[in-house]
Amino acid sequence: MKEIRVKTAQSEYGVIIGFGALKRLESLLLGLHADCVVFVADTNTISIARQVYNDITGIKLKKIIEIPAGEVNKTPETAVKLCSAFAASGLTRGSVAVAVGGGVIGDTVGFAAAIYLRGIRFVQVPTTIIAATDSSVGGKTGVDLPEGKNLIGAFRQPEAVFADTCLLDTLPGREITSGLGEVLKYYLLGAFEEKCLDVFPLSRDSLKSVDFEELIARCVEFKARLVCEDEFDNGVRRYLNLGHTFGHALEKHCEYTRYNHGEAVAIGIKIAVRLGIKLGITDAEVLYELDSVAWKMGLQTDTELKISELFRNITTDKKRLGDNSNIILLKRLRAPTVVTLTDSELREAVSEL
Ligand code: GLY
Repeated sequence: MKEIRVKTAQSEYGVIIGFGALKRLESLLLGLHADCVVFVADTNTISIARQVYNDITGIKLKKIIEIPAGEVNKTPETAVKLCSAFAASGLTRGSVAVAVGGGVIGDTVGFAAAIYLRGIRFVQVPTTIIAATDSSVGGKTGVDLPEGKNLIGAFRQPEAVFADTCLLDTLPGREITSGLGEVLKYYLLGAFEEKCLDVFPLSRDSLKSVDFEELIARCVEFKARLVCEDEFDNGVRRYLNLGHTFGHALEKHCEYTRYNHGEAVAIGIKIAVRLGIKLGITDAEVLYELDSVAWKMGLQTDTELKISELFRNITTDKKRLGDNSNIILLKRLRAPTVVTLTDSELREAVSEL
């Protein structure tokens, strides 16, 4: 079991990672002296939430709320309905919400917790690799608009994160592989010091034997450092958006049905690397490294869609300033940089990819 501390100007909390991490949830909740604890899950994770609910015996007032699953439901409407359910359940500013699920649940519950009564406390229980390695940590919460992904949101840090690796055992193969899309990002950014062969000494079929505790811990440790330095995403934290401008555009272009987040991020990273090479910023060796690690993870990094078709969705990215897009590129392995491109520069560059 590992515990990584995340420190920001206003808060400090632990990310507890490992088999059986959830056994520590009850004492955390007791320490928060909540007047009510509400567990929120979706159709995919409601049975896990019920189990967690039943295991917690020392808290009198507990409730469970189920919301619909999937990125298509990560909407303001779902967040508002959830706030109504909080109100109907009698939640006060002394209550705590526990998000049990993947990135969609974590983002939606975190956002509802940020806006309900102008803010209640919440805890993250990530059940996917994407959520455990990335989205449950760092306090980014939000929902999508028809115009683009995560366009409404708030920064609100959780009280704690419990990444219990036993929850990963039952994930479908596609969910495990695609979850490695975020791990690929962390690898290229420098979260792992070894060469890829040491980090993933695996065949494509043996991902089940990965030491997920170690894998998650490395990503979270790396993220915690960036969040500590730049909680509000104005500086180094932006590196964590590597591949995301293109990945989000791809997800939106396919109306959130074809690619899940990790798959889209993996493809988005490859687009960013190719763009960087074209602009003379990225060392060509990065492409080789990306391809070899992605292959080992079983991740597909190509799409037959034309990158130029994604352009409209790229220009609704939330990280834009004026007519400029801030794109994260890599100079070399472990050497990210932020490159500002005007719409016409970006359009021209991606049209030739
Ligand atoms: N998922 C990127 C971040 O939290 O900044």
